[in-house]
Amino acid sequence: MASSSYHHLILFLLFFHLISHCFGAPSFRPKALVLPVSKDPTTLQYATRLTQRTPPVSVPLILHLGGQFLWVDCDKAYVSSTYRPARCNSAQCSLANSNSNSNSNSCGTCNSPPSPGCNNNTCGLIPENPFINTATGGELASDVIGVNSTNGSNPGPIVTVPNFLFSCGPTFLLKGLANKAQGIAGLGRTKISLPSQFSSTFSFAKTFAICLSSSSNSNGVVFFGDGPYRFLPRNNDVSSNLIYTPLIKNPEPSSEYFIKVNAIKVNDKEVPLNKTLLSIDSQGKGGTKFSTVNPYTVMHTSSYNALTKFFVKEVGDVATVKAMAPFEVCYDAKSFSSTRVGPGVPTIDIVLQNEEVVWRIFGANSMVAVNDDVICLGFVDGGDNTRTSIVIGGYQLENNLLQFDLAKSRVGFTGSLLFSQTTCANFNFSSDA
Ligand SMILES: *[C@@H]1O[C@H](CO)[C@@H](O)[C@H](O)[C@H]1NC(C)=O
Ligand SMILES: *[C@@H]1O[C@H](CO)[C@@H](O)[C@H](O)[C@H]1NC(C)=O
Ligand SMILES: *[C@@H]1O[C@H](CO)[C@@H](O)[C@H](O)[C@H]1NC(C)=O
Ligand SMILES: *[C@@H]1O[C@H](CO)[C@@H](O)[C@H](O)[C@H]1NC(C)=O
Ligand SMILES: *[C@@H]1O[C@H](CO)[C@@H](O)[C@H](O)[C@H]1NC(C)=O
Repeated sequence: MASSSYHHLILFLLFFHLISHCFGAPSFRPKALVLPVSKDPTTLQYATRLTQRTPPVSVPLILHLGGQFLWVDCDKAYVSSTYRPARCNSAQCSLANSNSNSNSNSCGTCNSPPSPGCNNNTCGLIPENPFINTATGGELASDVIGVNSTNGSNPGPIVTVPNFLFSCGPTFLLKGLANKAQGIAGLGRTKISLPSQFSSTFSFAKTFAICLSSSSNSNGVVFFGDGPYRFLPRNNDVSSNLIYTPLIKNPEPSSEYFIKVNAIKVNDKEVPLNKTLLSIDSQGKGGTKFSTVNPYTVMHTSSYNALTKFFVKEVGDVATVKAMAPFEVCYDAKSFSSTRVGPGVPTIDIVLQNEEVVWRIFGANSMVAVNDDVICLGFVDGGDNTRTSIVIGGYQLENNLLQFDLAKSRVGFTGSLLFSQTTCANFNFSSDA
């Protein structure tokens, strides 16, 4: 009798083991995920890759910090047995805030034979390509996604999200994207952006961090989830250097990340700016946001003129040389000493909620080497009708780690990692697995 119940137990355990194996109960719950980010040398876009579909393929994508969701080209070579269009009025449509969900008359129909991106009775989204300012309608769908987990030091086992929501886009929406890209990965403030879906799937912190490499030859990194965020050579956790500023809500609905800049200083002296432009008005105009779409910081003409004039004055005796578009303030590269944090030019401080919270920009993030001989101030005049007064672009973000904490509605920044003797290209992407 005893031996029989023993056998039952064994059978039961075997059965249980099989079940958990077959139905993909995760063997462990990741605390964080990691993606590599490369800088495309031609377009200066930041690119990444995700594994998607069944059988899995690696999908090259362009990163869009303020983007609403993931969209991929479904018209060309989308083959997957796990692709599922989202049915009209489903929970998925309302989570995605789909345009057709509130109005069932606009439920998607498609007159071609059914295929990914073309199904009847589906809800849709408006995928956008901010590089060519174009948006169009696309089917909301889900499919399986695979990403590496991380312990903060190395990539770990791949984990999968079975029903990851995304939108299909047509092939023409890829125009202007770096070679081979098949869509855009949105990290913005929505319920279906990559950070939101990952944190809700794995129940980890509603937080992610980006660390963009300045080089096209070595990868930067995006972490989903809380730190540690460790970088070679000493494996130091740079999350201990984070200083926070609140994320500001734009009165106009936006998935972008806005902060409040109170002043700009050069060499510790305040640049005279029109402060009205630093606030967001009731129409959503003005203010400051981060963007990976703009390769360099873009400013409203009045702030741009004030900053460049002040900078030239603070540089002092060194003569400027011929402007090199899109930049206006350029110098002979030999005019400045070389420091650990780039050319020894006046510092530019972005003063945030108070005088103590300052993002200091050194030569490595302010001066762009346009050729071997000339360096230019890497800020661009956006004209006098810009929607957002200051758009902090990719070049100014490189080799700084930024952590977006959506639960606490704040963004943390480390300042230049060059001071900590590391760079964003120093995450150890090898694993012993
Ligand atoms: C959608 O429904 C229409 C009308 O019934 C039909 O002609 C069409 O083939 C269907 N399309 C798909 C993609 O199923
Ligand atoms: C996971 O990380 C390993 C090691 O860096 C890499 O070779 C692999 O392509 C990654 N897998 C995915 C799905 O990103
Ligand atoms: C400051 O900017 C606001 C908004 O564009 C404008 O209405 C105002 O005239 C500007 N003030 C000055 C002193 O230029
Ligand atoms: C992280 O994972 C890597 C690779 O699996 C391992 O070598 C390393 O010791 C781990 N580090 C920590 C701090 O757990
Ligand atoms: C990177 O991580 C791997 C796996 O833990 C380890 O074997 C290797 O020594 C690390 N590389 C460096 C340069 O420390």
